[in-house]
Parts: sequence; C-alpha cells; structure tokens
Amino acid sequence: MKNVELTKAKSLKGEITPPPDKSISHRAVMFASLAEGRSFIRNFLKAEDPISTMNSFKRLGIEITEVRSQTPPQPPLAKGGIQGGVSSELIITGKGLHGLKEPFDVIDCGNSGTTVRLLSGILSGNKFFSVLTGDDSLKQRPMARVINPLKEMGAEISARNGDKYLPMSIKGKKLRAINYNMPQASAQVKSCLILSGLYADGTTIITEPQKSRDHTERMLKSMGADIVVEGLTIKVNNGARLEAFDVTVPSDFSSAAFFIAAALMVPDSEVLIRNTCINPTRTGLLEIIKAMGASVELQDIRDVSGEPVADIYCKTARNLKAAKIGKELMPSLIDEFPILCVLATQADGVTEIRGAEELRVKESDRIKAMATELKKLGVELEEYPDGIAIKGKASLRGNVVESYHDHRIAMSLAIAALVAEGTTTINNASCVDISFPGFFEELKRITR
Ligand code: S3P
Repeated sequence: MKNVELTKAKSLKGEITPPPDKSISHRAVMFASLAEGRSFIRNFLKAEDPISTMNSFKRLGIEITEVRSQTPPQPPLAKGGIQGGVSSELIITGKGLHGLKEPFDVIDCGNSGTTVRLLSGILSGNKFFSVLTGDDSLKQRPMARVINPLKEMGAEISARNGDKYLPMSIKGKKLRAINYNMPQASAQVKSCLILSGLYADGTTIITEPQKSRDHTERMLKSMGADIVVEGLTIKVNNGARLEAFDVTVPSDFSSAAFFIAAALMVPDSEVLIRNTCINPTRTGLLEIIKAMGASVELQDIRDVSGEPVADIYCKTARNLKAAKIGKELMPSLIDEFPILCVLATQADGVTEIRGAEELRVKESDRIKAMATELKKLGVELEEYPDGIAIKGKASLRGNVVESYHDHRIAMSLAIAALVAEGTTTINNASCVDISFPGFFEELKRITR
C-alpha cells in the first residue's frame, strides 16, 4: 500500500475530466445483464468497485466483453483538454431477468456496498443458492437494512451475527410485493427493493424519508421497466421485459468534488471540470458552496443517456464563510462529507454538519476519520454522534495522516495537503483506486 507525500500548492490551473460515475457504472452492468440482448456501455468506470460488480455478473453466467480500454470521451466543445481516469467500453449479453445461473463459488463484492446491496435484491428473485461476501470493511457494514425487507418479500436469507453482516447466503424464492417505508434515505436500499420488486407478485411500494440518488429509476424506466415515481414513493410492477440499451456514463460528481473544493481553496486557481453528471440528487455540495459565499459556473448543460451533465468552471473563492448543514441536504451530499470537512477548515467561523450518522457506516467511520486526521493537521473541531463542528479559518500544518483504506478519506486529505504548510504524508493511499485510479497523477498535473 503506497504512502503519498504532498506539499502546499501555489495554484491549480487547467482542465480535468473526472473518471466515469461509479453509481451509474455499477447499475449499467447489472441492468444490462438482466436485459434481453446485447447492451453497450461506453465510458464504464474501470476501477475496483465497478470491477467487483462486473466480476460478480460473470460468476452469474453473464458474458461481458471489454471492447477497449479508453480515456473518457471529450465533450464536443472541448479544445485540447487532457483526459484523466481510466474507462472502458463493455458489451454485455443480457439473459433476461431469469437468465442468471447459480454461481459455482462465493461472490466476493470487495469493498463495494453498492454491489452487495443491489445484488441481494436481484438474487432474492432468482431461484438458486448464492453466497455474498466482501473485504474486511464491507463485512462490518450493516446488511440488515436490505435483509429485513427482502425476507418480508419471501426471500430465504441468512447472514453472520444474527442476519446483520456478511457473509450472507440467499435462496431466491417467488417474491411477494410489500409496502415498505425505508427507515433511512439510502439509494442502495431503495435500488435493492426496486430490483426485487421486478420479481415480486403485485405492486411493490417503497417510500424513502428523503430523496436519494435516482440513477436506478432513470435507467430502469428507460429500459421499459414499469416504475412510477410519485414524490418520495416508488411503485414497481413486475412483468416488463428489460430492453438492451446503449449507455454513455458521464463523469462522477463525487470525484469532481475534490477538484471543485481544491480550486475554491487554493489561491490563484482556475479549473474547468468537464463532462460531469449534475443529477440534482447528487449536487448538494453546490448549494453549500453557495451558502459559504462562493460559486461555481455550470457551463453547457446537456443530457447524456438520461442524466444531466455540465462542465463545471471553478476558481478561487474569496472569503469563504462557515455554513450550517442539516439532515435535509445529507442524501444529496452523502459522499462529499469528507471533502466538505476540508472545505470547512478554510471558511471563516464554525461550520456545523449534523444529521450525518450514516457516515459512520460507510467504507470507514468517516466522521471519526476526518475528526482524527484533521486534528493532526492542526484543526480545532468537535465531533458529535451525528456530525462535526469545524472551526475556520484554520492554518493547516502538514503531518502524517491515515486513509483508513477509504478512498474518499485519502482523496480529501490530499486536498487538505494542498493548503497545509510543509509536507503531508498520506499512508495507505492506493485505496483511491476504488473509485479514481490516477487521482494523484491528475492532481499533480494541474498543481503549480
Ligand atoms: C450509492 C449510494 C450511497 C453512496 C454510495 C453509492 C449508490 O450509499 O454513499 O457511495 O450507488 O447507490 P447509501 O445508499 O448507503 O447512502
């Protein structure tokens, strides 16, 4: 596991195309596998998490061919922008909702919560035996949130420690529709139940407490699934065939977020972030940036395979001010919590982020990780069970910090290093490959 050293940046200049969206890449592989016929997935994120999904579906008997490895496609208006991240083009021959075959061995979902939670919904409707597991982080993440409603639908599931943690075994059954009020806003749980709903007798009704990312609904509807969204309620009927599709994955806003924050914080910076998905269920960070007295410019807003996409122009913010962030915005900035903590260190006043208890059960306990590591860089802060208060504007001092093997912690600390005096060493930094292979190289390329 490599350790990476970074020093303070004078400025950031240039263009970057972040890697393809992770959530959309996972879904594209899963849904293409369940469709009938050949689907094309262009600009698939070739990073560890979506590769876990791809390998899982290969184990389930799906033929997936990588046509070529490529860098992300340039939007038409781009002039000479240098590409970043690695992607590939996939052809997937789907076998229909009931065409998966019983896996010969345990399916290892690696570090990927999206893989295991969405897959559990699919496997519950397929009448064979399967076992899902993951790495040490995934084995500590809560699975009862999918196991309980799936059991209610009739699936036979057992899991470690009283049906709470991986490994889990699933015996697929004829499912019955349920009417389910989700206790927490979670796109993974919602998507799991939408998928099991495709197999269930009757209309499955799912209601979320707050709107979480809606890539599943958008993509499945475009493929012909019978899904109706009414506010926070989603109604799913079985019976529809999924049509094969041709999808182009845009760049990931959550990967762009590191560069947005960096450009706002580092003096004399100007960065154009290309081809980025700006689905409103993902862009809560932009609202916070406004509340902090700064802004970014969304240029050339367009549609790419049913998702809104833009180029994001960012430059140094003068006088960032502290903001109060509550539960309402949390689902739309769930993965941006670590980088938002870093941004808060450079804002005048105390930034308070509350209602963020879900962050304790991500790839790491992200509240504890950011509190511990930012303190090492000299930040004054207070940790709460459901969030954090950060005092700015702080003078950061370089130090040795830990990634907790969590990609978003490693990348957030790398951005903090750009405004810290001296040298910052990030231990175990190769976890960035989970979502953003080439992150450090891209950061270096635009750093002056
Ligand atoms: C994801 C949903 C979110 C997010 C994760 C990806 C998805 O998790 O944090 O990185 O692709 O559906 P939750 O649904 O658990 O909030």
